[in-house]
Amino acid sequence: MSTISRRDLLCSGIALSASSLVARSAWGRTTALLASSPEAGSPEALAAVAPREQLLFDFGWKFQFGHGTDPARDLGFGTGQGDFAKTGDFKFAKAGFDDSKWRLLNLPHDWAVELPFVRDDELASHGFKPLGRRYPETSVGWYRKEFEIPAADLGRRITVEFDGAFRSVLVFVNGCFIGRNDNGYAPFRFDLTDFLAYGAKNYIVMRVDASFGDGWFYEGAGVYRHVWLAKSDALHLGKWESTVRASLEGGSATLALGTVVENQGKQAENAKVSWRILDAGGKTVATAEAAAQSIVVDGSAAFTATAILASPAMWSVDEPNLYSAIVTVETNGKPRDAERVSFGVRTVKFDADKGFFLNGNSLKIQGTCNHQDHAGVGAAVPDRLQWFRLGVLREMGCNAVRTSHNAPTPEWVDACDRMGLMMMCESRQLSSSTEGMAQLEAMVKRYRNSPSIILWSIGNEEWQLQNAMTEQGSKIGATMVRRCHELDPTRVVSAAVNGDNKAGVSDAFDIIGFNYGLERPDGYHKLNPARPIYGSETSSAISTRGEYTTSPARNTVNAYNSVVPWGETAEVWWQYYALREWEAGGFAWTGFDYRGEPTPYGWPSVNSQFGIIDMCGFPKDTFYYYKAWWGKEPSLHLFPHWNFEGREGDEIPVWVYSNLDEVELFVNGKSQGKQKVPHLGHVEWKVRYEPGSIEARAFKGGKVALTEKRETTGPAAEIRLTADRTEIDGDGEDVAILKVEVLDKEGRAVPTASSQIAFKVSGAGKLIGVGNGDPNCQESDKEPKRSLFNGLAQAIVQSTKRPGEIRIEAVKEGFDGPELMPAKLTIKAKAVEARPEA
Ligand code: GAL
Repeated sequence: MSTISRRDLLCSGIALSASSLVARSAWGRTTALLASSPEAGSPEALAAVAPREQLLFDFGWKFQFGHGTDPARDLGFGTGQGDFAKTGDFKFAKAGFDDSKWRLLNLPHDWAVELPFVRDDELASHGFKPLGRRYPETSVGWYRKEFEIPAADLGRRITVEFDGAFRSVLVFVNGCFIGRNDNGYAPFRFDLTDFLAYGAKNYIVMRVDASFGDGWFYEGAGVYRHVWLAKSDALHLGKWESTVRASLEGGSATLALGTVVENQGKQAENAKVSWRILDAGGKTVATAEAAAQSIVVDGSAAFTATAILASPAMWSVDEPNLYSAIVTVETNGKPRDAERVSFGVRTVKFDADKGFFLNGNSLKIQGTCNHQDHAGVGAAVPDRLQWFRLGVLREMGCNAVRTSHNAPTPEWVDACDRMGLMMMCESRQLSSSTEGMAQLEAMVKRYRNSPSIILWSIGNEEWQLQNAMTEQGSKIGATMVRRCHELDPTRVVSAAVNGDNKAGVSDAFDIIGFNYGLERPDGYHKLNPARPIYGSETSSAISTRGEYTTSPARNTVNAYNSVVPWGETAEVWWQYYALREWEAGGFAWTGFDYRGEPTPYGWPSVNSQFGIIDMCGFPKDTFYYYKAWWGKEPSLHLFPHWNFEGREGDEIPVWVYSNLDEVELFVNGKSQGKQKVPHLGHVEWKVRYEPGSIEARAFKGGKVALTEKRETTGPAAEIRLTADRTEIDGDGEDVAILKVEVLDKEGRAVPTASSQIAFKVSGAGKLIGVGNGDPNCQESDKEPKRSLFNGLAQAIVQSTKRPGEIRIEAVKEGFDGPELMPAKLTIKAKAVEARPEA
């Protein structure tokens, strides 16, 4: 076990992930890069280097519901007749089993998002979806797939790899039980080599049981992340054993390279390992080699070497430069296995007096916490959508995300590496049990080369373990922190604590995270001046997008300044953290709305209202507070809209978020006065409503720098569809994200519209989900129609595996409201080489 001082950790440098894509903060720029990048997503595929194969195992699965209590409706599984008695007996995982009536689908798949909402208060925190032991009919799903293994694969090691599934998974192959997984977020894998038929058809079956929840938020159900079939030589690199650790001295970086080689072949091997370091352009910039070692059958050996990178291009939030290390194991000059490890060179420091530093430069963590579901698709988020979501956060000036409260999807981490977002990476179960440690180890090993990750979190708000009353907390915490340090001596470890951090689990932390409770950090800092502090979770402000009154009758929350009793508005928490030099910054709850936790209401609210951005990625007004004070560009945002028909003469609060000097407000051309914008604050007026317009003029150095206007629109007349990209990959995975609005006769978007729109998608694409960001909307995410909510809806269209045109038509559904001119949009699915598939 290595010992490592807290000081070493706080000053360590590190490196991480793949490819040259540099995404900048402007949303337009990010989108343009996404459009031109063939590499968005697919970190595992990128990691495969011949002779290894990393094959996508997502397409062509059969699916059927099983049953949580009735074996007769669960493929006869669990009748008590000795299901596990003999190896090889499971008929549903053999040839001849009839799955012709099962549904054909592709992974990632979340069946929870397909279920109806059920009014049952016990289900509120998970989004009112019928999952759990009281809903046996919809809590168990079976996946089945037939696949070929070529005869030439005989002698290779073949592993099925799951990036994560919800939740309890039993895996069967060719009649044999292979293994189980019992958590919703950690990656898991099984070696199938001995069970496969070579040069023949094979059958894999998963029974996925979502009866138990892991968290208190929507978690989805099923195989909601990618699955892979990995094929390697019997002499191969250990999974997630390759590490690249950079330390800087003078102008150059020393790369400490390490890996483990395992020999599962039939004879001892004399193996040598070499590393080739590539820059973002693919040019070799350094090489290294470790001396050959003999590895006995079923044995393994660790290899290390050092390489020097002269004048490395550093990874930062503005320029996320990445390198790759190609790690190759060879015998007698023949490559036997290889992989690509993506990494970056950067230094990270948490300082107790001065806060956070990236590459020696002071930087406040402007972070958001996020769950992982999105409108229309639930937890089964296509890779491109991960990029879309991070792009919206970047546009707001957010420079860090916390993967609350679980290990993230690989594509989210990969996108952070490549877009330049920092990350607090969190494990689900704060426990030093075998399961808790396995989850933690999988997360740390999987992601320890990623430059985006600046700290590990071992958990969130564990009130049993946070106090001094029991010793459990400090013992469990110490074991977990120690293991993190062993696996990754370059990063600090912490957790999100909603207590005083004086004892219990916090004893072992390198840095101290406070959730909420702004009364606590000052006192803690005074008593513990040597311990760095950051806001592990802040805010919990609530608002409904486009709503300007709080109405318990309609379950809405106004956009101005609502918080839960334990929370703080954006202004309150950010002023606290921004103005204390010793605070490293913090993570607001939450970037995006998510299903479940419908606080402050209950049914019919099915989503949270904590997001700064709604479920679809449409910004709420608070987004612009952050953009003003987190972003680097001059900004101005005026709200509310100016469509308050029937409220003529009422006093309406008009607010402006801006980082300019002064703002003057005009109502129908009449000045309402000029106000100085307080640092990290906002300006507001109270105005009597009359139809027409409101306009804000923002001044910098006495001159008008930006203006924004809200006009009372006429009734809706036509539909408008806008896609984030008009050309996507025809690979069966890529998606276009469509904004749906209605315009009045003068082409102005109607901010209060609620028309229902039906979609028809034809050609080389399909509709995979719809949403509108309304926390109270119980319309289906999967049907080809959706009501607008306060003027907006979203449709997500995925390519099929062929190039061609995708045609989308949007027409008004039903007879309510004005007639609307339909909209048509064509997107091109371009021919691309799809990822290699099993
Ligand atoms: C926190 C918790 C989050 C979420 C939030 C809502 O205490 O960590 O998961 O529940 O409250 O305000």
